[in-house]
Order: sequence, then structure tokens, then C-alpha cells
Amino acid sequence: MLIKIRRGWERSNALATPEPIFRERRALAKLLAAGPILAAAPFLLSACDDAPKVAAQPPEVDPSAPLYPVQQNRRFTLDRPVTPEKLATSYNNYYEFGSSKSIVAESQALPLRPWMVKIDGLVEKPMEIGVDELLKKMPLEERLYRHRCVEAWSMDVPWSGFALKALVEFARPSSGARYLKMTSFQNPDIAPGQKSSWYPWPYVEGVSLPEATNELAFIATGAYGKPLPKQNGAPLRLTLPWKYGFKSSKGLVQFTFTDKRPVGFWELIQSREYGFWANVNPQVAHPRWSQATERVLGTNGRVPTRIYNGYAEFVAELYKDMKKERLFV
Ligand code: MTE
Repeated sequence: MLIKIRRGWERSNALATPEPIFRERRALAKLLAAGPILAAAPFLLSACDDAPKVAAQPPEVDPSAPLYPVQQNRRFTLDRPVTPEKLATSYNNYYEFGSSKSIVAESQALPLRPWMVKIDGLVEKPMEIGVDELLKKMPLEERLYRHRCVEAWSMDVPWSGFALKALVEFARPSSGARYLKMTSFQNPDIAPGQKSSWYPWPYVEGVSLPEATNELAFIATGAYGKPLPKQNGAPLRLTLPWKYGFKSSKGLVQFTFTDKRPVGFWELIQSREYGFWANVNPQVAHPRWSQATERVLGTNGRVPTRIYNGYAEFVAELYKDMKKERLFV
């Protein structure tokens, strides 16, 4: 007899985006992105009512909007509810725009186009490619992932995007490549946090090549069936759900294949507290607090944290011969 045992992170189909809604939302997104006239329509209408006549600015239309929503990949689901969109998009860590959790307004200054992405280092042919061109080449899908911040809070998000493995295959690294270093944008003119020379800008993170090609490693380009909000890392944000959240870099502009282990932003600041591997483990405390439990955004109380954030069946193999490494810091 074949018994299907549900893995911890699989969730019931009732929580997935139903097919007709997926189609309808996609059609609406196409309409909104059709051009400045359609996008400005609500503002033309409001000019006729009694509201004060303030020169309203139409919201910036993301040219990638027609791509969303994308089909959900049901291999990556959850066993707890999705975090309300409002919460996940307003409680952020993005030090380029400030060290508080409220950086939504500040992050809107980030221009999303043109957005060029460099792929370089140990690859067959280094290149620079516009983000829209890159999106056309990548297999977009939606995945529901847990996100566990090193600060012991967590959220559950429907990300859209593509497997990092697809980008690695597109880049064609040479045989000497062992790590992938990912670099975020640098522009102190629009990102006030980058004016502080105390931090080692730009934000850099890295993974080993086996991690980069693990099926869980994901580049988010959207969330909640829409393009990714700026505060969550648009237009390209790494998503490594089995690692602490600081490994999931936002605003990526460069992918460098290298034979040297990259030193991450936080690791450079305080390596005792933030290491290269940073895999979630409830039994290994942060030097200043316990990692045994987490506060799930939008709920009261705390729940136990799980080894590899509940993704052991996907990733534990990667580390089985690394007894000497600090895998959980
Ligand atoms: N990426 C950049 N470029 N800058 C940052 O400050 N913060 C990290 C990560 N990626 C950060 C970043 C941390 S500590 C976390 S927990 C997550 O982003 C937060 O993602 P969220 O704001 O979408 O919840």
C-alpha cells in the first residue's frame, strides 16, 4: 500500500490561488500595465469630485505587472496560514533605507527601471542583462515559503519568482566555481542608510554552488500575486527559506561566481553572531538570545522553531559531511 506522508511545510490546497482567480487577476494586471493613460484613469475621475485639488501622482506602474499572478507550484506549500499581505509588506528589514522596521516610505525612492543585472566571475561568458529581459528567460512560478528572521520572528509568504538553479544554468559557471556571491544595489543618493560609512556597503551575501542549485533556493520577483514591493526587495530578492532571513538579500544587481567563500554584510560586521551558513536551528542559540521559538507575524504568542526552518528533507543532505563548519550561526 502506498501511503503519502505529508511533509511539514505542505499545506492544504484550500489555501492555494484558485485557477479562475489566477486568470482574472492576471488579466487585470495586464490592463493596468497597458499604459499611462489607463493607469492614470482613477486620477482623471477624481478630478471631477469635491476632493481638494492636489496634483496627484499616478503610482509607478511596474512593467513586470502583466506577468503576475503566476501558477502556483504545489510542491512548496505551508502548514500554517499565509501572513496577511499588509503585515508582510510593512514590517521590514532593509538597512539601506534605515534601521527601523518602518521603511516603506523611504524605499519608494528606489528606481526600478532601468535595472541592469551583472552575471560575472567564473562563467563562460560574463554579461549584463536588463531585469525584464532576464524575467522573460526564467520559469516563473509561485511558492509558499516560511521566512525565519535571525531576530526570532517569522512570516509565511506566497513569493513569485524563479529557482536560483535556473539562473545558474543560464549563467553557465565554469568548473572552478564553488560559490555564488550576490550583491545588492548601491546608491546613497536615494538610500539614506548607505550614507552611513559605519556599514560595509553594498549588502553582499553568498551561498555554495550546491546550495544555489538546491531546488529550494529561489529568486523572488513578486509576492501575493503581484510584482514584489520595493520594501521587500524588488525587483530581485534572494529567498533561502531554510536559512536565517539576513541571507535573503534584496535589490540584487550582481551574481558573481567565484572559488572564494564570500563574506556577507553581517558576517563582516560581527562574524561571531552572523556566519556564512546561517542555517536555522532551534538548539543553537544566537550569542544574545534563544532561537528555540519564534513570533509568527500577525499571531499572539510563540511557536517552536524547526531545524532548517522545517525544510530538513530538502537540505540536510547538503551538510552531512561538514562536521567542522559553524552550520547554524
Ligand atoms: N537585504 C538587503 N539588501 N538589506 C537588508 O537590510 N535585511 C535582511 C534581508 N535582506 C536586508 C536584506 C533581513 S535581516 C531580513 S529578516 C529580510 O531581508 C527581511 O525581509 P522582509 O523585509 O521582506 O521581511
